[in-house]
Amino acid sequence: MKVTCRGQTVMIIIVIMQTSAPLYLDPSLTTALADTVCQQELLHTLVTALGSPLNVVLPDQAVANAQQFYGLLDRLRLRGEVYFAHKANRSTAFLRRLAASKTRIDIASIGELQHALGCGFHPERIMATGPKTPEFLWLAARAGAIVNVDSLDELSTLAKLPAYLGPTRVLLRFSSFTASGTVAARTSRFGMAETDLGACLDVADAFRDRLDIRGVAYHLDTVGVTEKAAALDGCIRMLLEIQRRSHNADVIDIGGGFGVNYLEDSQQWDNWTSELTQAVLGHRDPITWRGHGYGLRAEQGRLKGALSLYPAHRPVAGPRYAEELLVQRSPSLGQRYSDILLETLTQVYMEPGRALVDQAGLVLTRVLEVRQTAGETLIRLDLNHSDVSLEEHGVVMDPMVIPRGGEQHGPGAGYLIGNLCLEADLISRRKIYFRSMPRPGDLLAFVNTAGYFMDFSADHALHQPIARTVALTGDRWTLDDQYWPMNRETEVA
Ligand SMILES: Cc1ncc(COP(=O)(O)O)c(C=O)c1O
Repeated sequence: MKVTCRGQTVMIIIVIMQTSAPLYLDPSLTTALADTVCQQELLHTLVTALGSPLNVVLPDQAVANAQQFYGLLDRLRLRGEVYFAHKANRSTAFLRRLAASKTRIDIASIGELQHALGCGFHPERIMATGPKTPEFLWLAARAGAIVNVDSLDELSTLAKLPAYLGPTRVLLRFSSFTASGTVAARTSRFGMAETDLGACLDVADAFRDRLDIRGVAYHLDTVGVTEKAAALDGCIRMLLEIQRRSHNADVIDIGGGFGVNYLEDSQQWDNWTSELTQAVLGHRDPITWRGHGYGLRAEQGRLKGALSLYPAHRPVAGPRYAEELLVQRSPSLGQRYSDILLETLTQVYMEPGRALVDQAGLVLTRVLEVRQTAGETLIRLDLNHSDVSLEEHGVVMDPMVIPRGGEQHGPGAGYLIGNLCLEADLISRRKIYFRSMPRPGDLLAFVNTAGYFMDFSADHALHQPIARTVALTGDRWTLDDQYWPMNRETEVA
């Protein structure tokens, strides 16, 4: 606005501190999970009986998700396999249910390997990835799992191990590729360089009785389709070289990282991120605890840094993302990857973790207290940040209120705090807006948290309990370790 001051006209910029219209981030919910959240009485009974926090998993949903990936392979007329990346969730019910389907499993520790074997996965269906100890390699080779090798050392160790039923099946994993107008990807701590292939094949040639090279894999720390396409180009090139050296290899493993769409509404996501920038710049009231910027900061009135959050609204995720990758056109070969893979009779392996347990679980907690502190509303919950590690993994998504007795209250907003005696124990540094404010005795449901957020980091800090897990099929539940899929065998594909 213009004002006159001692005869001079000066411009005054008034920054209007907007106060809050609610900034909802509604979770995307498909039928099975939506139906689960509607079973309010059952969820209250389960938490009363089994304590807070409580994890709920939907084993059938994991199988349905795997079928989507197999369906994609079928549509593209490709041979291949889907391996569930076990690290995304510890549940026994998931493993037993998947073991009773055609889905395979990717394990990344000796404990996960033992778990998979104990849940009914034949070693033929197990792939060992990740950082490996000598004991892990020994058990993988002895059992007969396929091993995704990350270094020349690992390959040499494996070459000296006695396998049980013949040579150990091996995939050689790479993360750095030469040629083909290479798109630079971030350095990964996993995988070898394409230039290591010759040395790997020298070892393989020398130990043909111990090593059965079945193909190649890549691991990239990116969600970028273009970078993955460049890796696929490299893998096709290397597979040809391996075959030229008379190894019976026909597999390309495109790994995991296909992603999940967490939010229902792209508008809400865009709105929240732009309000965050306004808040960081001081143009509106804070929407995060102590003005936390999720990677953004203000320097002399300008926005600096980069948003360090998972893209919570991802319209192309899961099998659709895998499809987008496979139908890319190879810059060096001029054809779609799916056509090249079909023509060369190459098998495609995929290792979805997060996407395989999309819509397949939730974490429940009791609301203990709602109080005002220094002008803020704090909602104290009976769980801590390691029981639902959305914040640690950079995913922003609202919890849902499961009211006691179905009672609805007025709208409101507040910060969620946990049960640890620690300043830092915030379940979310984001202010959460509720259409119906939770009250003590209500439950909060953190939905769609089966992939990494449910139990990846859970521990016994302060002797707080780790959540029990229940497996739910419709309205029938069992404790996770009591779940057996016998009555579902008929549906096994
Ligand atoms: C070897 C391997 N496979 C599969 C995955 C699963 O990734 P996501 O859960 O993102 O699908 C990862 C993730 O780190 C991985 O390293």
